Amino acid sequence: MLNQNFHTLLKQDVFKSLTQCAEALKVESYLVGGFVRDHLLGRGKAKDIDVVAVGSGIDLAKAVQKKLPHAQKIQIFKSYGTAMVRWGDISLEFVGARKESYSKESRNPKVTEGTLEDDQNRRDFTINAMAVSLNSQNTGTLIDPFNGLEDLEQGIIRTPLEPGITYSDDPLRMLRAIRFATQLNFKIDPPSLQAIRDHAHRIAIISNERIVEELHKIMSTPKPSIGFLLLEQNGLLERILPELIQLKGIEEVEGQRHKDNFYHTLEVVDNICEHTENLWLRWAALLHDIGKAPTKKFHPKIGWTFHGHEFVGSKMVYKLFKRLKMPLNEKMKYVQKLVFMSSRPIVISEEIVTDSAVRRLVFDAGEILEDLITLCEADITTKNPTRYKRYNNNFKLVRQKIKEVEERDRVRNFQPPVTGEMIMEHFRLKPCKEIGIIKEAIKEAILEGEIPNEYDAAFALMLKKGSEMGLETHGK
Ligand code: CTP
Repeated sequence: MLNQNFHTLLKQDVFKSLTQCAEALKVESYLVGGFVRDHLLGRGKAKDIDVVAVGSGIDLAKAVQKKLPHAQKIQIFKSYGTAMVRWGDISLEFVGARKESYSKESRNPKVTEGTLEDDQNRRDFTINAMAVSLNSQNTGTLIDPFNGLEDLEQGIIRTPLEPGITYSDDPLRMLRAIRFATQLNFKIDPPSLQAIRDHAHRIAIISNERIVEELHKIMSTPKPSIGFLLLEQNGLLERILPELIQLKGIEEVEGQRHKDNFYHTLEVVDNICEHTENLWLRWAALLHDIGKAPTKKFHPKIGWTFHGHEFVGSKMVYKLFKRLKMPLNEKMKYVQKLVFMSSRPIVISEEIVTDSAVRRLVFDAGEILEDLITLCEADITTKNPTRYKRYNNNFKLVRQKIKEVEERDRVRNFQPPVTGEMIMEHFRLKPCKEIGIIKEAIKEAILEGEIPNEYDAAFALMLKKGSEMGLETHGK
């Protein structure tokens, strides 16, 4: 059921101020776009309010900024004819109603003044092209020339104009269509889908930042596979994330087949979304197998292998982030580490879960440990219920073992019980490689479970190693 009552909403001070300012300037004003759509859908309280003025949006913004108590300084984007006013946690975006025509080479339109209808015409989708009057003669009236309301009810993404025009005016809209379809679980109108296929190559003129913004929004939905399948089927994924397309397909040699790693990956992403809101963990799920395409080999004796795909994949993560101008900071390193370690817990869970393997995992994974196990659990996509149960139970066992090992051995964020300084002091050494050898021997012995993670045992091992290397003892 759509929430068509705008009257109660418009009693709020912010809207009353809008109406008063617009009327003082003798311009008509309307709410439009996502704010109207989300109100109709009852999707929480939207904080981004888009306002169209039939006249100067900037002048209206200036007046509203003065009227709203403690509103922040106005931001004006003169070349676009837009302005923004922040008031508390609300941001008001103003634009003058306009006709636009775009050039083929860029997203920057030539803008001329227009009517409300012109403005609605140039919007991306019917569900985003509805306006609500702020004018006192008909406050709260919905102006919906393209039956956006019906499309909202039916769950359809449709363009107001012939789709080819809408998408070629602004090719980012192809991604927006797919993003809305994924967020709202809507269907894209077939002529629109055809137009996306026809114009997919024009995504090249869109900046990587805008593309990534849409990908993040798709990744933040409960079922990103909806979006990735649409991107793939309509020729966009190969242009944005070709690494994923490389995972598509099943090869068969001598009767041996490997799984389709593209569809598998999408399942893993959907699975992980049930367990985490962490966007970067979701990205790690999307990219965890990208190294499989370049490392795939068939060996007559053992079948298909993907040796070293985790290492290759983690290198690919860097290149992909760089290409898409995603952050090359700790977020990227986090995704890289998850991809790099993505098979480690699986190997453990397939064998007898030994303490030393778990200790090594805890030591190497450090901060990402829980997320890594979450990724591995999401990675179980077998349709065989017996196998599913076995793998899943093994991860439960791995989690249990991790808890035991952590409580007992404290190897996460490992601090050696005997430090380099202690070794130097005891044997009266200057910095030299022997110190490293002794430290490594202590660490290995702890991880292998040969000695407990305690000072006395580590000190005794230091003495033993020192004497093996012929070092002179100087301590007590
Ligand atoms: N719009 C458009 N074409 C674009 C971007 C935006 O026609 N490429 C119009 C749509 O009418 C849209 C409005 O501008 O509703 C506001 O855009 P934006 O704030 O980017 O998106 P919303 O629709 O508000 O949705 P969301 O906040 O989920 O991004």
